[in-house]
Amino acid sequence: MGDNKLWLGFNIDKEGNRTDEKFEISIDLLRRHGGIFGSTGSGKTVLSKCILEEAAMEGIPVIAFDPQGDIASLMLPGDPKELASKGVPPERLKEYMDKVIVRVYTPASSKGLAISINPLKLPDRNADQDDIIRLLDNSARTLVKVLMKVAGLSRSWEGKAFAAIYELLRTIWEGEKTEVDELSELADLLIADSETVGVDLEPFMKFSERQTLATRIRSLTVGSSQLLFKEEGNIDFDFLTKPVNGKTPINVIFLKTLRSEEEKHFFIAIVLNQLYSWMLRQGYTEKPRMMLFQDEAAPFIPAGMRAPGPKETYLLIFRQARKYGIECLIATQSPKDIDYKAFEQFNTIASGRISSEQSLKVLERILEPIAGEKKSEEIITQLPAQHTASFIFSSADLKPKVSSIGVRWLLTKHITLTEKDVQMHMKKLRAEQEKTPRQTDGRGADRSGDQEGAADVS
Ligand SMILES: Nc1ncnc2c1ncn2[C@@H]1O[C@H](COP(=O)(O)OP(=O)(O)OP(=O)(O)O)[C@@H](O)[C@H]1O
Ligand SMILES: [Mg+2]
Repeated sequence: MGDNKLWLGFNIDKEGNRTDEKFEISIDLLRRHGGIFGSTGSGKTVLSKCILEEAAMEGIPVIAFDPQGDIASLMLPGDPKELASKGVPPERLKEYMDKVIVRVYTPASSKGLAISINPLKLPDRNADQDDIIRLLDNSARTLVKVLMKVAGLSRSWEGKAFAAIYELLRTIWEGEKTEVDELSELADLLIADSETVGVDLEPFMKFSERQTLATRIRSLTVGSSQLLFKEEGNIDFDFLTKPVNGKTPINVIFLKTLRSEEEKHFFIAIVLNQLYSWMLRQGYTEKPRMMLFQDEAAPFIPAGMRAPGPKETYLLIFRQARKYGIECLIATQSPKDIDYKAFEQFNTIASGRISSEQSLKVLERILEPIAGEKKSEEIITQLPAQHTASFIFSSADLKPKVSSIGVRWLLTKHITLTEKDVQMHMKKLRAEQEKTPRQTDGRGADRSGDQEGAADVS
């Protein structure tokens, strides 16, 4: 298309019938983030994937966390005949195949494309003072969470372990070294003498305790945990957002290869942390730069006091991403299970079939500032009877603010893939990845980043 419009479906008339009138949104609409709600099978993932297909065709690179394995099928073309029968011109499928490349990354598994993380990412040299503190804080906090979840660090040590690691990272950073490359290096520094390190960590944590902490950190570098931190496929957002032979990448991060909820949490937390730091380096932009999608978002941004690894960083990204051109999209069955602070940043909400009283109540509150009190009350009454893949689409920036839509048929298959399926389909790309190790493993290119306006915090 190239007209900056995303075609999401067809309008539905007052009688509830699907019309031929296309429902399109401007690509800029999602700068103030989008939330998709509906109970199981209501079509949330289908609508999300429709948005991702369209965004990528408009040249916006995508990073999508795939908890269930059904986002990965964005790489499988649909059936042109079926598309035609659903009112989608098959030429659009061709356009998608010509313009978009889908890469499926499998953390801690060699089946799909390799992706690994470095929990020790330090701020850029030119970063603003507040951002430096925020990034160091984020890195230290994430690492401590990882240590508690997978390396058996006692909860009662959280505070002091954070303080010691934060101080250490700060000292390393101030010592003009942008990166500690290895976790084992960090472990060594924790127990080295204060002259070598440049800071006395004794006030934060006694030597014997630092020894224990160092052992816990080293335990992340052996066994299955090390698969997450290995050098190959070190996550690099410059690479992930760069077109390949003119094709825009959709990067799917296949979470099913991570064995526990804990691993998923800290993996996402570290990816987000690195995304945040990359985002600040990019500077402000008026144009959308990337789309970030989290399906089944509730466990990662839970309501209440629980704060799993990704929660704080998600909230931080939702607050700031707009200025940096990063559009966030989340989908969940139960808005009530997500921290309400997230929704203060969301300007566009698509609501599908929901009948739980509690979810409807919460949704009404989320919709009020967007659609108005009366309208949101009206929307809520319609939700229990919504058809599959029909949504009430509300945005403060649209005219009219509220529309009833039927999602257009997906260009790609909508099926759930296993690790084996991914292996089969990613074989070729995987071989290429092995042949050409990336030059920018998140370092070279990272450092040069322009810093235009990275200072402000909203
Ligand atoms: N290619 C397609 N395009 C549009 N709709 C489709 C397509 N394929 C399937 N559907 C419809 O969408 C339904 C499934 O929707 P979807 O997987 O998006 O549900 P969901 O709300 O994400 O559910 P869950 O909470 O279980 O993940 C299918 O049952 C089917 O009716
Ligand atoms: Mg789904």
